[in-house]
Amino acid sequence: MAEIATLPPTLIVLSGLPASGKSVLAESLSRALSLTIVSIDPIEAAMWRAGLAKTQTGIAAYEVAQALADEHLRLRHSVIADAVNPVEAPRAVWRNLAAKHRVSLKIIECVCGDEAMLRQRIEARTRNIAGMPEITWARLLQRRDEYEPWTDPRLVLDTSRTSPAQLLAQALNYVR
Ligand SMILES: Nc1ncnc2c1ncn2[C@@H]1O[C@H](COP(=O)(O)OP(=O)(O)OP(=O)(O)O)[C@@H](O)[C@H]1O
Ligand SMILES: [Mg+2]
Repeated sequence: MAEIATLPPTLIVLSGLPASGKSVLAESLSRALSLTIVSIDPIEAAMWRAGLAKTQTGIAAYEVAQALADEHLRLRHSVIADAVNPVEAPRAVWRNLAAKHRVSLKIIECVCGDEAMLRQRIEARTRNIAGMPEITWARLLQRRDEYEPWTDPRLVLDTSRTSPAQLLAQALNYVR
């Protein structure tokens, strides 16, 4: 069990395809460091439950998460952003937020290097986000095609090879 430790104000940005293991890591980091998480999927699901059209909410959910992060960072509270972050536009917003508030930016990219395991995760998983159905393998393949490679300095974690506890230790070592 990792000890609770303080961290200078930091924006930790997770990225990676669905089922790559972002939320498992985000939650363990949040517990270990007592940090706020802003997570896209529950925000987008809330928009759907409120009746917004699914065509409107993809970008809006990022906007809400980034507005929440902006408020926390203004107060010098560290934040974990849990989102796929597949393309440059949202990545640039996170970079700009960290620069605006002069906090350190730590990017952690989760990958699942074993395709059969990724497919098994997609097909087996239930996340219990009310109003948000689980994605299909066909949709995952589309999202993989849309996902742009990162070029920023970052920690890349392969969640197919390492236990959640070991990944947490690596992530803690990286963000501290
Ligand atoms: N290190 C790990 N070892 C084994 N299984 C893992 C590991 N990390 C995550 N998993 C499993 O992989 C599945 C997907 O993880 P998770 O929900 O964290 O993915 P995600 O990246 O948040 O996906 P999404 O973007 O769709 O929310 C879960 O069933 C989880 O238990
Ligand atoms: Mg998730």
